[in-house]
Amino acid sequence: MGKIGVVGSINMDMTVKAERIPLKGETLKGEDLKYIPGGKGANQAVAMAKLGAKVEMFGCVGDDAAGVSLVKNLQDMGVETKCIKTVAGVPTGLAMITVGENDNTIIVVAGTNDCVDIDYVNEIKDSLLECEIVLLQHEIPQETVEYVIELCAKNGVKAVLNPGPARPVKQEILEKVTYLTPNEHEAVILFGEGISFEDMMKKYPEKLVITQGSRGVSTCRKSGEVILVPARKANVVDTTGAGDTLNGAFTVALMEGKDIADALAFANTAAGLSTEKFGAQGGMPTYDEVKEAMGR
Ligand code: RIB
Repeated sequence: MGKIGVVGSINMDMTVKAERIPLKGETLKGEDLKYIPGGKGANQAVAMAKLGAKVEMFGCVGDDAAGVSLVKNLQDMGVETKCIKTVAGVPTGLAMITVGENDNTIIVVAGTNDCVDIDYVNEIKDSLLECEIVLLQHEIPQETVEYVIELCAKNGVKAVLNPGPARPVKQEILEKVTYLTPNEHEAVILFGEGISFEDMMKKYPEKLVITQGSRGVSTCRKSGEVILVPARKANVVDTTGAGDTLNGAFTVALMEGKDIADALAFANTAAGLSTEKFGAQGGMPTYDEVKEAMGR
C-alpha cells in the first residue's frame, strides 16, 4: 500500500467529564481532567496508522512541552513525523473538550495550527507529493487547504476533504476534491439550505459522503441509488474522535481498493469501536479488531 498524507491540526486535548454539557452561563462540576493527544489531523493520522497504513503527518507544533509530547505520540503510533515543523514562540494547538451524556463540546485554540501556511506546504512539497492520497480538515488556514487541494489535483494525488469545523469552500475547490465527507451541518454550509441532502449526493455520486451521527453514513452510487450505511451499535464512553476514525478508516479502505459501500461499512465499524473508550485516540481500533467486530 502507498503512503497516505495528512495535512492538518495537532492539538493537546484538555478533556473533562461532566454529568452533562453545561447550559449557557451555567457552572457544573467536572471530573477526570486529562491532557491527551488530539487535533482532527493528528487523530486521522493515528487512526490510519493503527489500521496498519503507512502515514505521514504534515503540520506544526510549538516549542513547548505539549509539542514535544504530541510529536512523540505520533511517532509511538507509527506515524512519520519528519516534516512536522516546530515553531518558536507560538503555543501548540489546544482543544478544550467537555464530555457528557454521550456527546461533547469542543473549543479549539489554533496556536501553531495557524502556522500551517502556504510557505510551509512549499517546504514539504516533495514528501507530500509522494503520497497516493492526502487527507485534510478545517483546523488549518483555509487558503492552505485550497492550495494543497490544487497541488494534489495538478499532480494526480487524490484528496479527501473532511470539512470540519464547518466553513464555506469555493466551488472550484470542491470540484477538485476526490472525496468530501461533511456531516449534515457542514453539508449545509457547503451547499446551502435550498438543496436536499439527497440532491447534494446525487450531484456528486461516490464522491460526497454525508455522515449522520448515530444513524450512519450516506452516499449516492454512480447508478444514482442513494445508500445509507447504518452505524454500528456501540457502548458509548466518549464520541470525541469518532468522525476522525471514520475518515481515517474510510481512506484506508479506499486505498485497499474497497468499493465505496464496503469502505463505509468498514469506517462505520471502526468509528463505533472508537467511541467505546475515553479520548479522541484512546479507542481507535486495529485492522483485526474492525474485521472481528464486522464478523460478529
Ligand atoms: O475531532 C476531535 C478533535 O477535534 C479533538 O481531538 C480536538 O483536538 C478537536 O480538534
